[in-house]
Amino acid sequence: IMSLFGEVPQATPVAVFKLSNDFKEDANPKKVNLGVGAYRTDEGQPWVLPVVKKVEKIIVADNSLNHEYLAILGLPEFRSSASKIALGEDSPAIQENRVGAVQCLGGTGALKMGAEFLRRWYNGNDNTKTPVYVSAPTWENHNAVFANAGFEDIRPYKYWDAEKRGLDLDGLLGDLESAPKHSIFVLHACAHNPTGTDPTHVEWMQVAEVMKRRKLFVFFDSAYQGFASGCLDKDAWAVRYFVTQGFEMFCAQSFSKNFGLYNERVGNLTIVARDSDNLKRVLSQMEKIVRVTWSNPPSQGARLVAITLNTPELFAEWKDNVKTMADRVLLMRASLQAKLQALETPGTWNHITQQIGMFSFTGLNPKQVEYMIKERSIYLMASGRINMCGLTTKNIDYVAESIHETVVNVQ
Ligand SMILES: Cc1ncc(COP(=O)(O)O)c(C=O)c1O
Repeated sequence: IMSLFGEVPQATPVAVFKLSNDFKEDANPKKVNLGVGAYRTDEGQPWVLPVVKKVEKIIVADNSLNHEYLAILGLPEFRSSASKIALGEDSPAIQENRVGAVQCLGGTGALKMGAEFLRRWYNGNDNTKTPVYVSAPTWENHNAVFANAGFEDIRPYKYWDAEKRGLDLDGLLGDLESAPKHSIFVLHACAHNPTGTDPTHVEWMQVAEVMKRRKLFVFFDSAYQGFASGCLDKDAWAVRYFVTQGFEMFCAQSFSKNFGLYNERVGNLTIVARDSDNLKRVLSQMEKIVRVTWSNPPSQGARLVAITLNTPELFAEWKDNVKTMADRVLLMRASLQAKLQALETPGTWNHITQQIGMFSFTGLNPKQVEYMIKERSIYLMASGRINMCGLTTKNIDYVAESIHETVVNVQ
């Protein structure tokens, strides 16, 4: 019997989820998953933040809470407190009532809402031809989210210099200079995924100078606030600097990583507008877009975050939890670098500690990655990106020896 779905082509699986499935099915007891971007404890287990456990109990015990629909734009105390940690408690833009937000389904949802809005309303009302620039390389979903919102011209901007294993500043500035006016640039706020390489303050200032002069739109993606340095304020430096430079901009925030709330889908799209009147009209259109997308957002994750951010003792405890995660990553970085150097693994490995955040861009090529997976049961992305949180004091020797063996045997 013919099926109505007979013509549906098989889609390719999403690389990072496929990698996790392959890992699950691997019978090797020494296997290590360095693919998916999620935090693991030194026991290799997911971590429910202690502050999250505490607030979950507060929510269960609070009889004033119910499961009525939230407003279309989400929980007000979540939206405002989330924007506050991005822009800073004393942000002039907040004081001037020109900051608003949309509660979204994770950082992905925030990017999606931002993209949908920009395609419809940014600088006129048909932006299908407006170029959207994403870093080369970037989180692979950036391309697809913007394309799916109707943008037809998505371009890479230079970012990574493979030779020197660092930022290609000249390339980046050159691409900013030559981009058509009003192009949209997606910038990673901190802990760039996948390279773990961020511009320095001075480099960010150079980027801002060109973007302002060339009238380019700033769309920050902030998925790792706290993970880069262990300090929320330090990791928000770039976002806050751009606000001081007078940009109207978007900032997509994810609370998946820094709250360990991956499956609760907590995100926020912070909007910085010229003034409160512009903000009001933007939010009114955002409501229309949310309404046809998910109608209104879920509450549990947003409540958890809002209660934490708005209660001083809990806020302090959360910052401490974030630091615990960031510190463990730093320890694993130092340890992996030291082990590779002790093994005299060919190549330089300083980039392991120079890079920041959850990921390291090892420089392993696709053939070497394949060898690591097939011969050593160590799962990593084809780009050579490894999740530093997947390393533990128990598996790090095995991983270092495997990298050594791979680099020596496979070119
Ligand atoms: C750069 C970047 N942006 C956005 C996201 C999406 O985050 P979420 O899982 O909250 O949708 C991720 C997640 O890996 C990411 O790495």
